[in-house]
Amino acid sequence: MFDERRSIIIRDGKKLSFDYVPEKLIHREEQMSALRMLFRPVFEDGRSETAFLTGTVGTGKTATAKRFCEDMMRYGMESGKPAEYVMVNCRQRNTENAVVLQIIRHFDPGHPDRGFSVAEMLRTIRGIMETRKIRLVVVLDEADILIKKNAVDIIYQLSRFNEESIKKVSSISLILIAQDYILDKIDVASLSTFKRTNTVRFSRYTRDELRDIIKIRSDEALFPEKIREDAVDLIADISKEFGDARFAIDLLDKSARKAENKEEGIITAEEVREAKAMIYSVVTESKLMDLDRNHKITLLAIARSIKDKAYVTTGAAEKTYAVVCEEYGETARKHTQFWTYVQNIEKTGLITTSVKGDSEGGRTTYISLPDIPSKVLAQKIESIMDI
Ligand SMILES: Nc1ncnc2c1ncn2[C@@H]1O[C@H](COP(=O)(O)OP(=O)(O)OP(=O)(O)O)[C@@H](O)[C@H]1O
Ligand SMILES: [Mg+2]
Repeated sequence: MFDERRSIIIRDGKKLSFDYVPEKLIHREEQMSALRMLFRPVFEDGRSETAFLTGTVGTGKTATAKRFCEDMMRYGMESGKPAEYVMVNCRQRNTENAVVLQIIRHFDPGHPDRGFSVAEMLRTIRGIMETRKIRLVVVLDEADILIKKNAVDIIYQLSRFNEESIKKVSSISLILIAQDYILDKIDVASLSTFKRTNTVRFSRYTRDELRDIIKIRSDEALFPEKIREDAVDLIADISKEFGDARFAIDLLDKSARKAENKEEGIITAEEVREAKAMIYSVVTESKLMDLDRNHKITLLAIARSIKDKAYVTTGAAEKTYAVVCEEYGETARKHTQFWTYVQNIEKTGLITTSVKGDSEGGRTTYISLPDIPSKVLAQKIESIMDI
């Protein structure tokens, strides 16, 4: 089914996969050094610490946490102060039970998945920590899910582990990761060791930062000189809208695969454009799935009112919105609420807005759809809306 022909472009495909973590994360030096500063007392004074990593999609939170933990483990080994870490993806393990089970399984891979309460398992972990004498860092990635599922207690439990002091040499530290600033939703005061200043922020990558990331990743993953410089530029230009390194790397990966099948044997801007067309329809769909009904209706109104024009005013879109609401049996919300929906949709990148002044000193907001034909968008929304 797959031909056996050797790849002429990709030297090491693993380097393009999402879970590959480079030895050095360029443009995340500040975050790495903030983490080193926060966790120094874990090694110096046997304390436990807590950090909170936040930033939008693809800004390197998971990768930085992994890199930091790997480096820390290496340091621990070299300095005779053993450290280990457990990375829990809370989207996959979204109950307290599942989180604790994964921590136990780090030590005892065969631990049964049933028959023990959270409290019992925490006791087991305590016992292990006492005999093993290690510094353990638990990373709760996508921790916002625990809040949504009302499972925050486990965060408190883990942060309080050291209070009932196990021997001084072992400790459990916590790294929480979330796209949103979840500290507003948890009781920080009861998180011992936690200070709001322990927050490490990840901003969206700029165009030039994305370019550097793509350049380095190409050198690692591709045979030499298999991507043109202007193709690297184009990947950076396209992905800067999201500031998302995952998107940029995916674009590189797909461009490389497109180029494999062509005679030229090099990635040019044309393959990048082809890859973009391929990714965009998937991106749009997944973004649409994340919108709730009110936001879908608002976006449908925008798509229908913009038709083949480049822009539509919010006023015109709002008129269509009232019609769409009626069609779907919803009460149209007031202007301020409608405007909030528009702004929320803008955050997903599905639309952009701009304000322009007119000759009478008034201001009008224009909405545009940068990436998808309005007809296609309207059809997609209609097909996923249940009436
Ligand atoms: N500074 C960087 N240098 C090299 N690669 C990076 C960098 N930042 C992110 N990446 C890569 O981009 C991809 C996305 O990064 P990561 O998974 O860490 O994002 P995230 O912030 O955790 O996103 P999400 O909120 O969606 O979980 C990964 O493949 C990662 O290796
Ligand atoms: Mg992540």
